[in-house]
Amino acid sequence: MSNYEGKIISCKDICFAYDGMPVLSHISFDVMDGECLAFMGPNGCGKSTLFKIINGLAFPELGTYQFKGKSIDRKTLDDATFAKVFHQQVGFIFQNSDLQLFCSNVREELEFGPVQMGLAKEDIERRVGDVAAMLSLESLLDRAPYHLSGGEKKRVAIGCILTMNPQVLILDEPLAGLDEQSQKWLLGFLQSLKKSGKTIIFATHDRDLANSLADRILTIDSNHRLLGEMH
Ligand SMILES: Nc1ncnc2c1ncn2[C@@H]1O[C@H](COP(=O)(O)OP(=O)(O)OP(=O)(O)O)[C@@H](O)[C@H]1O
Ligand SMILES: [Mg+2]
Repeated sequence: MSNYEGKIISCKDICFAYDGMPVLSHISFDVMDGECLAFMGPNGCGKSTLFKIINGLAFPELGTYQFKGKSIDRKTLDDATFAKVFHQQVGFIFQNSDLQLFCSNVREELEFGPVQMGLAKEDIERRVGDVAAMLSLESLLDRAPYHLSGGEKKRVAIGCILTMNPQVLILDEPLAGLDEQSQKWLLGFLQSLKKSGKTIIFATHDRDLANSLADRILTIDSNHRLLGEMH
């Protein structure tokens, strides 16, 4: 995955429909390495669907999606080695953390990604330790994820992605359901990830979050089309 000249994500003319019902209509945009991009738009305009496509969990009916200059489609992701490298580089944090957490305790949850990557035991332990410290998860390591509060689950879900050290982070409504203090903490944390050079793409209904974090805001309208850029 090289020769992409800093254009980490390139979507061209993407169209998608569920059972014939259009949800994304001719969406084109690029994301440069290290950029922070916000997607806004009304409920049902297609933001989460677009994120599924960017994460290789759904495929456009029309148009193309390239990651680092390589087409991401059913065929390329059929190659297990390519798919593994791709999924390790793009971390998706769901709006609903319950859909993301499935292990019996937080430590296993954090270990899952690095184990899938085939890392050595010491590397896995180091990554889990570093991420647990970064997100203040040490006291939760032996707890069952489904007994955690919403904010704690969100921290664990972010941790599970960070242990894989992806270059791109995709967050769907990251502040939804968090109290004021957790929102403040998460905003600061995302700002520090941005400063460290990560590419961040997020969807939000919170204009303040978009203004304070994003380099660019893209808006999808109720007709599932991309409007002009702000910022
Ligand atoms: N699996 C599915 N099957 C059928 N329709 C779906 C499916 N997932 C989403 N939709 C529909 O596609 C449209 C776009 O949904 P999507 O979740 O992408 O919107 P969104 O912009 O993320 O909305 P929100 O702001 O409410 O999160 C909606 O009308 C939704 O009902
Ligand atoms: Mg959504």
